[in-house]
Amino acid sequence: MTERTLVLIKPDGVARSLVGDILSRIERKGLTLVALELKTVSDDVARGHYAEHEGKPFYPSLLEFITSGPLVAAVLEGPRAVAAFRQIAGGTDPVEKAVPGTIRGDFALSTQNNLVHGSDSPESAEREIALWFPDLGV
Ligand code: PPS
Repeated sequence: MTERTLVLIKPDGVARSLVGDILSRIERKGLTLVALELKTVSDDVARGHYAEHEGKPFYPSLLEFITSGPLVAAVLEGPRAVAAFRQIAGGTDPVEKAVPGTIRGDFALSTQNNLVHGSDSPESAEREIALWFPDLGV
């Protein structure tokens, strides 16, 4: 079943010039880009995006990081797009969880500066797409 997911190439991915590599992996997997934008995120959008993590010890640092510079926001479409992107991203902890061959497994060391975000469920994707691309519709 075709599904959509929200992906962020976080500020570390842009700063390290990994955007092309990451987009290439997405395209080679077979996922289709339906929206793509380079933007610097406002504090409001950052708080909305990471609302579920409010109160966790890493939350203030996470907000500072995600607003620290330009990032790439994208909407991907394809069969089981949510799980498919999380598969190629690798686990949140790029050393303990992400395996080689994944984006985080190949290029990241930090659980915060881990290059990409992907929605964790179709419901989260719907919420996040509405937040990042309010004009996209469904
Ligand atoms: S958790 O621990 O279940 O809340 O982790 P998870 O839902 O996988 O994602 C947490 C997001 O916060 C970022 N982040 C950290 N997570 C865990 N521990 C530390 N110290 C930490 N610092 C930052 C992590 O990169 C996840 O970001 P996204 O953008 O959702 O992948």
